[in-house]
Amino acid sequence: MKTELLTSPIDSLQSELLVVFAVNKSENTEKDAKAEPALLASDGAAAKAAADVLTLGDFKAEANETLLLHAPAGLAAKRLLLVGLGKEKKAGANELRKAAGTAVRFAKAKGIRSLAIALPENLDIASSARAIAEGAVLGDYDSDTYRSDRKDRSIDSLSLIASAANKDAAAAGLNEGTIIAESQNFARFLINEPGNYLTPTILGERAKKMASENGLKCEVYSTEKMQELKMGAFLSVAQGSAEPPALIVLTYEPEGAPAEPVMGLVGKGVTFDTGGISLKPADNMEKMKYDMAGGAAMLGAMQAIAQLKPKVKVICVVCATENMPDGKAQKPGDVQIAMSGKSIEVINTDAEGRLVLADGLHYAKTLGATRLINAATLTGAVAIALGQISAGAFSNDDEAYEKFASGLAASGERFWRLPCDDEYRDQIKSSIADIQNTGLTRYGGAINGAMFLKEFVGDTPWIHLDIAALAWLDSEKPWTAKGPTGVAVRSIFEWVRSYAE
Ligand code: BES
Ligand code: ZN
Ligand code: ZN
Repeated sequence: MKTELLTSPIDSLQSELLVVFAVNKSENTEKDAKAEPALLASDGAAAKAAADVLTLGDFKAEANETLLLHAPAGLAAKRLLLVGLGKEKKAGANELRKAAGTAVRFAKAKGIRSLAIALPENLDIASSARAIAEGAVLGDYDSDTYRSDRKDRSIDSLSLIASAANKDAAAAGLNEGTIIAESQNFARFLINEPGNYLTPTILGERAKKMASENGLKCEVYSTEKMQELKMGAFLSVAQGSAEPPALIVLTYEPEGAPAEPVMGLVGKGVTFDTGGISLKPADNMEKMKYDMAGGAAMLGAMQAIAQLKPKVKVICVVCATENMPDGKAQKPGDVQIAMSGKSIEVINTDAEGRLVLADGLHYAKTLGATRLINAATLTGAVAIALGQISAGAFSNDDEAYEKFASGLAASGERFWRLPCDDEYRDQIKSSIADIQNTGLTRYGGAINGAMFLKEFVGDTPWIHLDIAALAWLDSEKPWTAKGPTGVAVRSIFEWVRSYAE
């Protein structure tokens, strides 16, 4: 999708589809209260064209409500689409992001390939433009890659219309939002790939290609190198697979960045999780192709970092492997020695994400990371704890977490902090080894996963994102396709940027 900023007057704008957002100005919260819809555009031309439907009450400006007008009077555009943002008081960047996605998906369904969106000028200009760009680019994504009847209805061009006075701020927001959302779509594309198309080796190749296109350094380590590094935890997961694992290491070292901090981004890249010998049930097992969503989120964040160039050093480690049952696969009860030297009793081979991340986190530290963040589809339990609205977040450091939490306003993503203090540590004690890879009880499963990872970060400030419940959307929404969401890309990017000079 090509994006451009225009400052032309709305009435004379030639367009297939002109999109104008609207809010409900009524403060009456009762159910049957009459809506007072009002359009948000810098001049009154669109409001004039829509005056009739607005007074008739056909359109209430509820969040993501749409109304299409053909040949709108007094406008050069062929069609005018009104998209609601809901109550005026609550309408902000998050509502704009969704509404822009709704507009794009509306256009796609009709085979319309170009649209113009009027930027509301009553909110912060740069963040509104960014949110609209993000929503539009994210709305353009579809997951039907391998359908023979696939109708590629992607949008060719998006014009954002702003008044001349707001041109620079709007252009900056548009550029940033486009980059961030394209990076998120890159992650979604990877996550959607089936296990037979996206092996650890292919994931390594995709990372290399992205890195070379964006000026990042990238190395992919083979099994031998991981053996030399003594990554016993990571390799134990890979040993049951005919496909070799890949440890993907990317580095971003911008000129002028201070020596510290060095941000360490670590992702779970399990390209297919069968559970291993602790085999998963067949129902829904096909979904386990998305068990590399944490790794993909890190690659997406790296792409955004490479393009938006915050002045801070970043290292990214993606631990890519399959988790398969086989004659060579590890068995429940096996003891593995992690790269850090810690011994691990593997109670359940399906708790493999924490094993690969144990070595990934430790290795990122040996490469010089002084702040760590990891993302992983780590536990089913996080869905039981938090549902599918907020993802889980854990941290050993309040300051690092505060920075992460402050970035959520801009990213528009929802994370909820869960505890991981030492009182929970008893759950992962083993009688034969230093720790075991599952909790002694079924309770607090997401916390047990976090406690295990915490063993490998030491005193380094660290954030763990458990995105298992949000990485995949089962049914489509007006603003986004079903399938991979690319959750965490935006929040990881914001967190990294918050450390930039
Ligand atoms: N990849 C799964 C977690 C998962 C579940 C991701 C559902 C997405 C959707 C992970 O490797 C796993 O199997 N975890 C186990 C841990 C348990 C054995 C302690 C789980 O959650 O059941
Ligand atoms: Zn598993
Ligand atoms: Zn897994």
